[in-house]
Amino acid sequence: MCGIVGYIGHREAYPIVLKGLQRLEYRGYDSAGIALYDGEELKMCKTKGKVADLKNKFEEEVTTNGTVGIGHTRWATHGEPNDVNSHPHYSNSGDLVIIHNGIIENYDSLKKELKKRGYTFKSDTDTEVLVNLIEDVIINEKVKLGKAVQIALNQTIGAYAIAVFNKTKPDEIVVARLGSPLAIGVGEDEFFVASDASPFLEFTNNAIYLEDGEMAVIRRDKDVKVRKIHDDSLVDPYVQELQMNLEQIEKGGYEHFMLKEIHEQPNAISDTYRGRMLVDQGIIRMAGVDDNMERIANAKRIIIVACGTSWHAGLVAEYIFEDIARIPVEVEYASEFRYRNPVISENDVVISISQSGETADTMAAIKLAKEKGAFTFGVCNVVGSSISRETHAGAYTHAGPEIGVASTKAFTTQITVLTLMALKLGKFKGTISHSDFQFHLQELERIPEKVKEALKSDELIQEIAAKYKDAPNCLYLGRGYNFPVALEGALKLKEISYIHAEGYPAAEMKHGPIALIDEQMPVVVIATKKGHYEKVVSNIQEIKSRKGKIIGIVTKGDEEVRDLADYVIEVPETLESLTPLLTTIPLQLLSYHIAVLLGKNVDQPRNLAKSVTVE
Ligand code: G6P
Repeated sequence: MCGIVGYIGHREAYPIVLKGLQRLEYRGYDSAGIALYDGEELKMCKTKGKVADLKNKFEEEVTTNGTVGIGHTRWATHGEPNDVNSHPHYSNSGDLVIIHNGIIENYDSLKKELKKRGYTFKSDTDTEVLVNLIEDVIINEKVKLGKAVQIALNQTIGAYAIAVFNKTKPDEIVVARLGSPLAIGVGEDEFFVASDASPFLEFTNNAIYLEDGEMAVIRRDKDVKVRKIHDDSLVDPYVQELQMNLEQIEKGGYEHFMLKEIHEQPNAISDTYRGRMLVDQGIIRMAGVDDNMERIANAKRIIIVACGTSWHAGLVAEYIFEDIARIPVEVEYASEFRYRNPVISENDVVISISQSGETADTMAAIKLAKEKGAFTFGVCNVVGSSISRETHAGAYTHAGPEIGVASTKAFTTQITVLTLMALKLGKFKGTISHSDFQFHLQELERIPEKVKEALKSDELIQEIAAKYKDAPNCLYLGRGYNFPVALEGALKLKEISYIHAEGYPAAEMKHGPIALIDEQMPVVVIATKKGHYEKVVSNIQEIKSRKGKIIGIVTKGDEEVRDLADYVIEVPETLESLTPLLTTIPLQLLSYHIAVLLGKNVDQPRNLAKSVTVE
């Protein structure tokens, strides 16, 4: 989704804003732009394409040395991706300039009003409407920029994170948020603005995260004044010290962020359970669960809401919660849940899973669940994110920043957190025996080493990738705990290699997908020893007799599938409930290598966004 960056201080703004945009590239975008003020003139440059294109264009066209600037990566919503629709956008006078992440839903009626008053528009965007609305307020109501932004925003419906600059008042930037993230980096006599902290981490670890419905006037060399957009009340800004470091958001020798993040999983998983799982004492500590144990354990039902890969983690969790804690679980796409008038009661617990903690649909689902009286619990990776703040309680995954658009370590760490939660609830409710509980903890502790072992199949997977990279379709099959893994494997392939892929429960294959199988069709079958092994082997036989190409994901030492399959990739043995943490690994690597061989942009696949902050 769109990324915004801004700087006001004593340094040259251009390199800071440009590098900031590069750091936000992972969010997904189709065009980029930058505006700088050099003390006299406001210079703007924008283009369809990548930040690298913007850099070339800027350095050809613009020579300016300003200490205030804003920049934007745009993911098109209103108006196709082109130079004109890219942000920033000027107001009609040319004094104001704005960048915006989100959607102004009533932009059409506002635009008609402004047109009647003589305003003209160059682009098709809702953003250009907003900047002119602000200008109109300044002119008509004779107020300063901050007040004008506030009045204008109170006339809008929709979602936004914005930064606005007025060249006639060059010592301030005004920012505001509702439904889209916005962080202010607080340095020594300088301030940064960004969609997340990554653009300013190398300059400061101090950040103010605006809450929904807040705006701030950032004054050069002075301060940040935060207030509520709706009622004008002043808010004491909370300056948070960030724990992230720069190394975590760089590639560290890997060719792509995705590959780095795949290889980070052993550490990410142990970071997730570290300090929570005390194996010797047979204890799991999770403050968000401990503090609300009765409420969660006595839930009549758990509803899990999420999108994309996080939804797949939710499906795995459904098996775990029902198996171990014996609580009925429903898993819903947040985007469906929020609009279908669901029956929710105070006895329900709604768990939202979100890597970014900013996904608009997941956020809306949580708000709806809260309105209906449910207890809400957030499983997020990004600390301080909107969903983590909106929910009654939660648990972070502690996976570290995930930059590759295709989610990898977020998935396995989400499963880890949810496993801990299910075990804890099971222990409290007495639905898991002490020895079983203990065995799960011991086995979970061994998972990072086993993930490392699974990663060793990399070379074999490269060979398999080379063999099947030109297949137009691919089928992924799994049963039980590994059915969601099949969905996730197919999603990974689609996302980054653009090969059509489908995940299916292995037994359902007979009800449709079997018609697709011929000698061209690679079928990835998860056939680990634990969990319906014999049944899956029968499914493999069915594929083989229709000449499908079989890639089996099997337990180490398996001979039966090896005899039937074209290739097998081994993973170490573990408990059935923990197999997704291992079987996912080869599927991530397979999609990665196919995409690389096909020359695709692995970390920023076309049309996709890392964090979907519009519905
Ligand atoms: C986007 C990303 C996916 C992610 C999904 C949900 O589609 O490209 O990788 O799974 O959003 O995001 P969340 O941050 O809520 O987990």
